[in-house]
Amino acid sequence: MPYKIAIIVGSLREGSINRKVARSICGLRGDNLDCSMIEIGDLPLYNQDLDANPPEQYVRFRKQIAEADGILFCSPEYNRGIPGALKNAIDVGSRPYGQSVFDKKPAAIVTASPGSIGGFGANHQIRQACVFLNMPVMQQPEAYLGHVSDDSFDDAGCLKDGPLKDLVTVLANAFHGWVHMIHESRRLLAEDSAHAAQAKAKEHA
Ligand SMILES: Cc1cc2nc3c(=O)[nH]c(=O)nc-3n(C[C@H](O)[C@H](O)[C@H](O)COP(=O)(O)O)c2cc1C
Repeated sequence: MPYKIAIIVGSLREGSINRKVARSICGLRGDNLDCSMIEIGDLPLYNQDLDANPPEQYVRFRKQIAEADGILFCSPEYNRGIPGALKNAIDVGSRPYGQSVFDKKPAAIVTASPGSIGGFGANHQIRQACVFLNMPVMQQPEAYLGHVSDDSFDDAGCLKDGPLKDLVTVLANAFHGWVHMIHESRRLLAEDSAHAAQAKAKEHA
């Protein structure tokens, strides 16, 4: 069974290079990653008062994230930080307090930019939020994709052959491995605990 991956693109732009990178990652591991792009452009700005009767967009977004096995953030950097729309989505998913839908979800962070430092600032701000959200984030390969432009993609919006596609392929494989490792470890730990509980119950029988 492929893992269900929720992709959150930090750009609302139709022709977003980050959206194209996200699509390329899905295309490269389509066999093992069942990817869905999650809409964030329609989320009302997070307001705690709204949680008394959450708007349908909050409900829909939280359900989509809750159902995912892993989260892939693909985002531009805006003014050396997280684009507002993405930060808003993170805030919406993180609340109400104690009910964050991001809790324990394995994640990877990719930032792409025409600039040379590849959205490093935004990448680490997303990572910082993930630490608080208790999300195991893939460490390597880091993905600050610099010098990315429309020319990096073919007419179908897929990455052209070259070093960028090679790096994104390594990344897609590593992300699949990361999600698998996290879920498999949890499954084995749960099995161990169940066996231990059974053994203890027999001892006391
Ligand atoms: C408001 C704004 C701020 C930006 N700030 C940065 C920045 O800090 N660093 C950077 O590398 N590019 C910056 N850019 C350029 C974006 O990297 C570029 O527009 C990129 O194509 C946006 O990603 P997208 O194609 O996925 O929408 C900025 C663009 C906008 C619109």
